[in-house]
Amino acid sequence: MREVFLDYASTSPVDPDVQKAIMQSFTLYIGNPSSIHHYGRASREAVEANRDFVAQLLGSKHDEIVFTAGGTEANNLTIKGTAYMHKDKRKTKGPHIITSVIEHPAVLEPCRSLEDDGYKVAYLPVDKYGLIDLDTLEHTITKDTFLISIMTANNEIGTVEPIQEIGKIAHDHNILFHTDAVQGVGKLPIDVKKQHIDLLSLSAHKFYGPKGVGALYVRNGVQLQPLMHGGGHEKGLRSSTLNVPGIVGLGKAAELAAKRMPTDPERIQANRDHLIQRVLTIEESRLNGHPTKRLCNNAHFRFTGIEGESLLLGLDDKGIAASTGSACSSQKLQASHVLLAIGLTPVEAHGSLRFSLGRTTTRDDIDYVADELPGIVNRLRQMSPMWNR
Ligand SMILES: Cc1ncc(COP(=O)(O)O)c(C=O)c1O
Repeated sequence: MREVFLDYASTSPVDPDVQKAIMQSFTLYIGNPSSIHHYGRASREAVEANRDFVAQLLGSKHDEIVFTAGGTEANNLTIKGTAYMHKDKRKTKGPHIITSVIEHPAVLEPCRSLEDDGYKVAYLPVDKYGLIDLDTLEHTITKDTFLISIMTANNEIGTVEPIQEIGKIAHDHNILFHTDAVQGVGKLPIDVKKQHIDLLSLSAHKFYGPKGVGALYVRNGVQLQPLMHGGGHEKGLRSSTLNVPGIVGLGKAAELAAKRMPTDPERIQANRDHLIQRVLTIEESRLNGHPTKRLCNNAHFRFTGIEGESLLLGLDDKGIAASTGSACSSQKLQASHVLLAIGLTPVEAHGSLRFSLGRTTTRDDIDYVADELPGIVNRLRQMSPMWNR
């Protein structure tokens, strides 16, 4: 049976060149990068060379990159690490974070845990496309706001937020600006200086690197408290022996992403648009998210009268991998908080499906999916009590 992977927003396969670099690292870099003998120095050099590739992709300085175990850790380090700098003010002032209702749980959950500890958090609403409103953002700022954290692009519906404008507002008010760019890196051009970004989270496995490694860009001068205490690695921000093979993989993925930025997104978007055009010919189907301000690889639909989960299984029978909501929350069977936030009913939210394309997706793959999908939708509708035509 033909196999088509259209779930790149959940994770991406490791690029063959990345895989090669990782495999070589196991024999080339056996030393601990903190050791001063030549084995250690070789590992340290590899770590620093790959830190450079990540820095170049973001337009940051070399020493502004802190390696982490992924996007979740980078988000937690930002949110809790900046909040703990304001710990003493909790009783008198209520230090304040602004974020949005459609953030990934890796931002929402640390924020909620801080609320339990006496911090204040404002969750900005979004419009029907998933965009935050800049006036609302500006009016939500208080004299105690120390952090604005808004995602670069949403992991479910792919909506791209006006990051540069948000960063400008944050800096006009002397507030730190963090963006969870886990979905944006490798697909959107990023320039942390130009976009007024102080902290940025990324994760290797979303752009053809290995799982379990990521980074946090921390602008020089930004003060953070570490979450892990130990040997003081990564300028004291993230103790633990560095994950050399993971960092080599992340660096290689970043290097390739930078090289492919001029061509990949455009080609992927053309395939994505072809998919959208074909899928929307199905009766009672709609596109979720913004028509143009969306990630090049994201196509998110809803279909009246059927459950996304059943659709997912029907597609899986045909060798096609897609997703309902984010992979992390798809176990929960709750309506997606993102889809509810853009105004869908729980029933509409449950009838939604995300296709996310990648570097190796072909036009043939898309045509195969678009040929199979109408039959699956019709079959499910015939069995559905919610479909009474
Ligand atoms: C927007 C966003 N932030 C954070 C994460 C978590 O990243 P990681 O899996 O590296 O912890 C994800 C993963 O799905 C994501 O899509």
